[in-house]
Amino acid sequence: MAPLVLRKFNSTLFKSLELCGRRGLSAAATGKPLPKEEKSSEYAKGETHFGFETVKEEEKSTKVHKVFEDVAQSYDKMNDLMSLGIHRIWKDIFMQRLSPVHGTRLLDVGGGTGDIAFRYIKFLENSSARDPTKVESHVTVSDINKHMLDVGKSRAQSTGVLASAENVNCSVDWLEADAESLPLPDASYSAYTVAFCIRNVTHPQKLLEEAYRVLQPGGRFMCLEFSHVENDALRWLYDQYSFQVIPVMGHLVTGQWQPYQYLVESIRQFPGQEEFKEMIETAGFRFVTYENLNNGMVAIHSGFKL
Ligand SMILES: C[S@@+](CC[C@H](N)C(=O)[O-])C[C@H]1O[C@@H](n2cnc3c(N)ncnc32)[C@H](O)[C@@H]1O
Repeated sequence: MAPLVLRKFNSTLFKSLELCGRRGLSAAATGKPLPKEEKSSEYAKGETHFGFETVKEEEKSTKVHKVFEDVAQSYDKMNDLMSLGIHRIWKDIFMQRLSPVHGTRLLDVGGGTGDIAFRYIKFLENSSARDPTKVESHVTVSDINKHMLDVGKSRAQSTGVLASAENVNCSVDWLEADAESLPLPDASYSAYTVAFCIRNVTHPQKLLEEAYRVLQPGGRFMCLEFSHVENDALRWLYDQYSFQVIPVMGHLVTGQWQPYQYLVESIRQFPGQEEFKEMIETAGFRFVTYENLNNGMVAIHSGFKL
């Protein structure tokens, strides 16, 4: 029995390595340069990137949709495995930086399976700043992918988050919508969060403009996203882990490697900290700042609508 299991494991591992190699992603390990990181302005009109692939703009959202449809059921488990649980700490820090008060109306875009919204509710529950029974708070979890939202809804039931929301007088709703054109009125939220989503959006600038539109004056925009590791040695190590280990791990655990290949490629395509800060300012936000976590592996950007 044991040798049979071992043989199956070895053959799956071999297949995964072979598949990854085919895409040239062993480049990081062999010392070959990784594909050039192109800026959106360097694409022909109507074209953009899907990971390291150049695709028509209208194709990207279909492909991204397929990625998250495929990973929805294993999303939370894989997040823990791939980041060794560190994504939980990043999200906790993100919520601490937002430090919401009772009465906040939060829109969490690309909210997926609810990690940010659930932290928001827990934060309110642990905060005694005001009498929560008197002040009404709200969170809308918005995502383009119904499969991700469905996993989020059942998690909300099974983890007792809905009971916590009730305790703090916080209403929760779920909205299937594209971040680039939200079916929401102007100036209807006091805070907007987006975590690990914006790099998947075809026109990130449109997401930022929508964030600006739906926020009330004084409202805060906050983004948690993979960014650029600053230290050369750390970046090399991170590249080895990303390109050599993550797609293989995805294949071993879920039987799929493409979504995880896309994940690591899309991270490399996203603008660096300073360029993204300028994009947020271009959308109209003021007092834009960012904070690197783990040497820039991820960054928290923040800005205000004044
Ligand atoms: C990596 S998950 C992040 C989920 C969650 N925010 C978290 O931190 O765990 C990215 C999410 O962005 C969503 N997404 C991708 N493109 C989107 C778009 N154009 N509009 C809204 N959501 C989008 C995906 O469906 C997916 O649920």
